[in-house]
Amino acid sequence: MKNVTAFICLLFCLLVFFSCEKERNLDDYSNEEYALISQELTLPQVVNSYQLELKEHFLPPGKTYPKVNTVSFGDIYSNNNKATLGRVLFYDKTLSLDRNVSCGSCHHPERAFSDDKQFSEGVGEVITKRNTLALATTLSFKISYSPIDPSLSRSKFSWDDSAADLPQQVKNAFLSENEMNIEEEEIKQRISERPFYSILFKKAFGTDEVNSDRIAESISAFVDAISSVNSKFDKGLESAALFSVDKDFYNFTAEENEGKKLYNANCASCHTDKHNFTVKATANNGLEMEYSDNGIGGRLNDPDFYGVFKIPFLRNIELTAPYMHDGRFETLEEVVDHYSEGIVNHSNLSDELKDENGNPLLLNFNQEEKSALVAYLKTLTDKEVTSDEKFLDPFKG
Ligand code: HEC
Ligand code: HEC
Repeated sequence: MKNVTAFICLLFCLLVFFSCEKERNLDDYSNEEYALISQELTLPQVVNSYQLELKEHFLPPGKTYPKVNTVSFGDIYSNNNKATLGRVLFYDKTLSLDRNVSCGSCHHPERAFSDDKQFSEGVGEVITKRNTLALATTLSFKISYSPIDPSLSRSKFSWDDSAADLPQQVKNAFLSENEMNIEEEEIKQRISERPFYSILFKKAFGTDEVNSDRIAESISAFVDAISSVNSKFDKGLESAALFSVDKDFYNFTAEENEGKKLYNANCASCHTDKHNFTVKATANNGLEMEYSDNGIGGRLNDPDFYGVFKIPFLRNIELTAPYMHDGRFETLEEVVDHYSEGIVNHSNLSDELKDENGNPLLLNFNQEEKSALVAYLKTLTDKEVTSDEKFLDPFKG
């Protein structure tokens, strides 16, 4: 009898042991790994999920979550271990020439991953040539795809579309003299100085080999996961009949609904009405007769594109002042004044901002309309994405 009880006990213990073993996710860290990581980083032992749950109104017509068509729509899921490694690399200041600058030095979470400066300081206090672009302005860069015309897909990065894709943008940031000014070999050296990286690379890629492709891929996975989907605007859209932006939103004030109408009539042809997919990728919005920075035209050395810049998404725009490629406007009121009475007749001015005679539009908003537009733009703020712990700096001290 004793033997039988002992046998049953043993069986039970084994069962518990194996079921626990099975449940331990291989993605998570062992106690030993976690102790080492925790010396310098605050990361959860159970790896964060960076999976993006898209609501239906964000999907192209005819597609429903989670059956996202991976061929035409791209893989929306970020690999959790790659994104975790990307998060650490994103905030690691030792990966710049003077060990003082990380991606996070210019892309601050509380500013929707931009900053409050006209131009930002890179290594050696060299300043950037343009205003820092925010990262939390999209549903996620990966899906800022144009279902209407795939050639418009927001696949290019920077104000002058100079980076073909996100990994390229990351590599450029490391190499740029105005940003981190560091070459691949030096980055590898710096990474090898910190033992926790060996664990993070193994989790992400299977081996601890470090190279610029792996660095770019993991930082891209992190940046892709920064997605803003919970603004007041999104809540309104979610409960609107047929996800239509045309009727008033129940959760908006009268002023915000008025602003929505004005926005849809005058701005959405470039900046999109649902703030989801690209409708037009680049434009000239008539800031100057002659630009000192010609944007895409300057890069291509082609006058037909002088003064043409990327059309930014406007999610979290309230948090990302100053505005435009050169940070010339300090407030949203100044931006609205520009569109109301300041558009100039540049030879490349986009048609959306011209009247039937080809002259710059004079939208001439009155004071109430201006305030309404600004009130509407502020409904695009999503404080969840700016405070979500999994996007914050994990370094201790
Ligand atoms: C010194 C400040 C600074 C640092 C450091 C920096 N950036 Fe940027 N970032 C900028 C500026 C300025 C732009 C706009 C560049 C341009 O258009 O010429 C930008 C643009 C971007 C964009 C393009 C967004 C878009 O919508 O096209 C991404 C993505 C980005 N940075 C990610 C990163 C990552 C990742 C790192 C670290 C590897 C990094 N940045 C480091 C200032 C910085
Ligand atoms: C022809 C297309 C077009 C239309 C229409 C348009 N914009 Fe823009 N918008 C742009 C472009 C291009 C830029 C960037 C220009 C630059 O920096 O040189 C921009 C920049 C902005 C910015 C600054 C974004 C940032 O991150 O700095 C805001 C805000 C903005 N637009 C709001 C509006 C509003 C409000 C309207 C309607 C009254 C509007 N836009 C109409 C093309 C357009």
